[in-house]
Amino acid sequence: MCGIVGYIGKGQAYPVLINGLNRLEYRGYDSAGVAMIPEKGTLNIYKAAGKVKQLEDSVKNCNIEGHVGIAHTRWATHGAPNKENAHPHCSMSGRLALVHNGIIENYGVLKDKLTEKGYVFSSTTDTEVLVQLIDYIYGAGDMSLVAAVQLALKEVIGAYAIAVIDRDNPDMIVAARKSSPLVIGMAEDGLYLASDATPIVEYTNKVIYLDDEEVACLNMDGTYRIVDLDNADCCHEAQTVAVNIGQLQKGGFPHFMIKEIFDQPECLADCMRGRVLKDMNKIVVSAVIENRDVLLNARRFIIVACGTSWHAGLIGKQLIEDFCRIPVEVEYASEFRYRNPVINEGDVVMAVSQSGETADTLAAIEMAKEKGAFIYGVCNVVGSSIARAADAGSYIHVGPEIGVASTKAFTGQVTVLTMIAMALAKEMGRADDGFMAKVIDELLSLPEKIKEVLAFDEYIKDIARIFTYVHNFIYLGRGYAFPVALEGALKLKEISYIHAEGYPAAEMKHGPIALIDSNMPVVVIATKTHLYDKVVSNVQEIKSRGGRILAVVTKGDTVIKNMADFCIEIPETMECMEPVVASIPLQLLAYHVAANKGLDVDRPRNLAKSVTVE
Ligand code: G6P
Repeated sequence: MCGIVGYIGKGQAYPVLINGLNRLEYRGYDSAGVAMIPEKGTLNIYKAAGKVKQLEDSVKNCNIEGHVGIAHTRWATHGAPNKENAHPHCSMSGRLALVHNGIIENYGVLKDKLTEKGYVFSSTTDTEVLVQLIDYIYGAGDMSLVAAVQLALKEVIGAYAIAVIDRDNPDMIVAARKSSPLVIGMAEDGLYLASDATPIVEYTNKVIYLDDEEVACLNMDGTYRIVDLDNADCCHEAQTVAVNIGQLQKGGFPHFMIKEIFDQPECLADCMRGRVLKDMNKIVVSAVIENRDVLLNARRFIIVACGTSWHAGLIGKQLIEDFCRIPVEVEYASEFRYRNPVINEGDVVMAVSQSGETADTLAAIEMAKEKGAFIYGVCNVVGSSIARAADAGSYIHVGPEIGVASTKAFTGQVTVLTMIAMALAKEMGRADDGFMAKVIDELLSLPEKIKEVLAFDEYIKDIARIFTYVHNFIYLGRGYAFPVALEGALKLKEISYIHAEGYPAAEMKHGPIALIDSNMPVVVIATKTHLYDKVVSNVQEIKSRGGRILAVVTKGDTVIKNMADFCIEIPETMECMEPVVASIPLQLLAYHVAANKGLDVDRPRNLAKSVTVE
């Protein structure tokens, strides 16, 4: 949550900052701001409530010169999302400007201390306390800005990624991180700083990911130094990031979300490339091979995740239990981390996270690690905090996901979990050649099957028109389709603001059935699985109470087709792979409902893509 950008070098900072904020807007978008130093002694700070566009409009007649600058797009934690609380925050002396992603938990104590010393605050944020604290320490003695930042951060409890500039010393940016991500990019024309690599990749592919409690000083001459809070040097090898700019653009689609939905055939092919080897009848997941003994000896797996990734985890549980007969628990990371859970040495805790930065998931694995668990990460963002904290892991490799509502990352996570389960089953001697060949064929046919479903886009758009202005939806599924129902409901509510509940179809009669009437659309995943007949009965129960049924069925179905008001046919696949194919129409439905309502699909209200606060 919240995106930070910084630039220092030969070029102008403002275009880099604005471009970067646009790339990072998925992290938060309730206000934005920039700070530049055009010359020593002058600090220009511009802020606006709302999206980055509002900021751009508001600076049209302002001085945006400067070779050094920092910028921020906010997802409010402390203080309302207005202009006063927007970052950058300036110290009372007017000398320092600071942007921050994270939460200063002891800001109240620090604020009281600073107020006693005469500091006056103009916002209600925790961030302003931090910039005043640095300013106070900086002004109190003969020390560098780096030293003042180090001392200030020692007093801070909480999470931070920060960047600070000094009006009277425009040749540097000081940055630091703890629990919130920060990446430095090194290019010919200067040094870049951002919450993730997406604002940086168009300038350079050489990056360094800061570690916790490290402070970086980026200089105008292109040199930099990274130290810890006690000023000891920290060594980092520059890493190469491989993100292609096309992946960061909409490519002719009106929104990133619909582009990402349509990207799925290609993304899943990328995700399986080099792993699903038909010629050799093998699924190669390197982390499974490298950690074979630990994984095979695990008494149980615990999957920790949040949001959509938690839904993928529910599918992962069924896959691992089905294929490997290893017990799997799936936990909301936010509950798990505070619940004193029983974790034994030899347990495998698997963190599923698109961003690899979700604060609760990160904290959950850190806690599990302390208790002796082996941590396996399933992330999309390469080099992310969870990926780096894990003992082993598999990237999903679906490319950057920009739309706040997760689509391709979800199907990518499920695909990776399928490959992990199958690779493990093979190592355990639980997958014979015939079964392996079947799974491989089905996996490799997923991209084509998704394309078949995408061809129903216009039809789904028509259905979406009919349902655009209803107030409630129910989604039902059983077995592997139950998490799909949860995910379908989540997609709809997060982008269209329509209340939607996902339920196991048979549980409906224990409560939700009371809601069914002719105003209630019910989406049922009713594909040809071993539970098909049971689901037919559930559909009958809805029908006889007047509910409007939108069914996702297997191609060629006739029974449900006669009962449902609308049917979307999906190609047949193995039951365990249906979540991938059956999710597509639900993604399209949610998208078209929200788009019909004219909503900001990629940036739904109150949400952020990367939730780096707990
Ligand atoms: C936010 C996003 C969701 C995502 C969840 C977990 O709520 O809006 O799309 O599923 O965080 O994020 P992660 O990056 O850990 O998968």
